[in-house]
Amino acid sequence: MKLGPELISGDAIQQRVRELAADISRDYASIPKPLILLPVLKGSVCFATDLSRSLTVPVNFDYVAVSSYGSGTESTGHVQLLKDLTMDVAGRDVLMVEDIIDTGLTTSFLFEHVRRHGPASLKLCVLLNKEERRVTPVPIAYKGFDIPNAFVVGYGLDYDELYRNLTAVHILEP
Ligand code: IMP
Ligand code: MG
Repeated sequence: MKLGPELISGDAIQQRVRELAADISRDYASIPKPLILLPVLKGSVCFATDLSRSLTVPVNFDYVAVSSYGSGTESTGHVQLLKDLTMDVAGRDVLMVEDIIDTGLTTSFLFEHVRRHGPASLKLCVLLNKEERRVTPVPIAYKGFDIPNAFVVGYGLDYDELYRNLTAVHILEP
């Protein structure tokens, strides 16, 4: 596998992140406690970090981690929680931040898990959406880009732990 053409430029990502942050800041302007941003490790770190810096509402961070892919490019469909919540999210407004929704299996598993802890609200913000690949429906409240059914890397997304540091999103080629 090798790095292919740029699909979304760094500038386009930054522009869209600012737009999403404006929407989120507006929607959560009057909540009683800081918004809990919940990035899913490790792929969402770049996105969540940039997003948070454009938010105008107070935020807390917590992180969860799951395994779903191993080192390949196809989902195993088997999701395992590797790192749980550390904050008490009961009665709090939680925004889960995902790099990409593919089959939707990871996100529905995590949504169910977080919901059991009784947040006041739970919504999803995702940078990339591969609608064509969806197996389980997931409610996306904030979406960066719809992308075609290709394996992509960069801006947090990896192939075998590589390419997370790229500024743009690229297609990975055989
Ligand atoms: P899902 O459970 O199939 O929706 O997969 C979600 C997870 O798989 C994401 O959080 C990513 O870590 C990974 N993933 C899915 N598609 C891609 C891709 O195109 N590039 C890199 N990682 C991906
Ligand atoms: Mg991954």
